[in-house]
Amino acid sequence: MKTSISTILSVAAFTLGIATLVTSCGGKTETSSSGISPQNMADALHAVMESDRTVYTKQVVNRLQNEEKVIKASEHWKDEKALPLPAQMFRMGAEMVAEKKKGFTYALLSEWPINKQNFPKTEVEKAGLAHIVKNVGQNYYAEETLGGKKYFTAVYPDTAIAAACVKCHNNHDDSPRTDFVEGDVMGGVVIRIPLATSN
Ligand code: HEC
Repeated sequence: MKTSISTILSVAAFTLGIATLVTSCGGKTETSSSGISPQNMADALHAVMESDRTVYTKQVVNRLQNEEKVIKASEHWKDEKALPLPAQMFRMGAEMVAEKKKGFTYALLSEWPINKQNFPKTEVEKAGLAHIVKNVGQNYYAEETLGGKKYFTAVYPDTAIAAACVKCHNNHDDSPRTDFVEGDVMGGVVIRIPLATSN
C-alpha cells in the first residue's frame, strides 16, 4: 500500500487545524456576546423534554399497555405496580430539576387539566396556552416579572401523539374535556428562565 507524503502532510495539517480550533475555543479570548440566547436555551431544553416524553409514551406506555397489553399505566402506579403516567414521569423530572436549583423551571399545564394544579396561572401562562391552542404548530415566547424577578417564559404545544393520550384523558373522571382526538393540542410545556438584571 502506498501512502503518499502529501496525504501524511494533509492529515497532519488537518490535525493541527483541529488543535488550533480547540485552543481558540477554550481560550480566554471568547467574548461574552457568544453566549446562548434565552430562546435558544429554552428551545434546546424543550427538544430534550419532548423527545423523552414521546419515547416514553410510544415505546413504553402505548406499546406495553395498549398494544401488547402486558402492564397498565396508572395514576396510582406504586400501589398498583403499574407504569407511571407520562405526565407523572414529566413532573417527577421537573421536581428533581427544581431541587437542583439550576435557575430554570418547567411544567406541563393545560386549559383542560385533569389535575387542577395544572391550570395556567400567570398572565403569560394564560396567553401562551391560548396562543398555542389557537395557532397550531406555533410556540409562544414572552418576558414576565414575578416576585420582582424578570423571566423569559416559553410555551410549547403538548400534542396527543398517541392513542393512549386521548383515550385516557377522555375517559378520566376528573377531565373537564372528553372530546380530544389524536393530533389535538392538549396542553403546553412552560419553560421559565431567569434573566440577569442589569445592575
Ligand atoms: C393512562 C392515563 C393517561 C395517559 C396515557 C396520558 N395522560 Fe396526560 N394526564 C393524565 C393524568 C391523570 C394527569 C394529571 C397528572 C397530575 O399532574 O397529577 C395528566 C396530565 C396531563 C397534562 C397536564 C394537564 C392535566 O391534564 O392535568 C397534559 C397536558 C397531558 N396530560 C397530556 C397528555 C398527552 C399529550 C399524553 C400522551 C402523550 C397523555 N397526557 C397521556 C392521564 C394520562
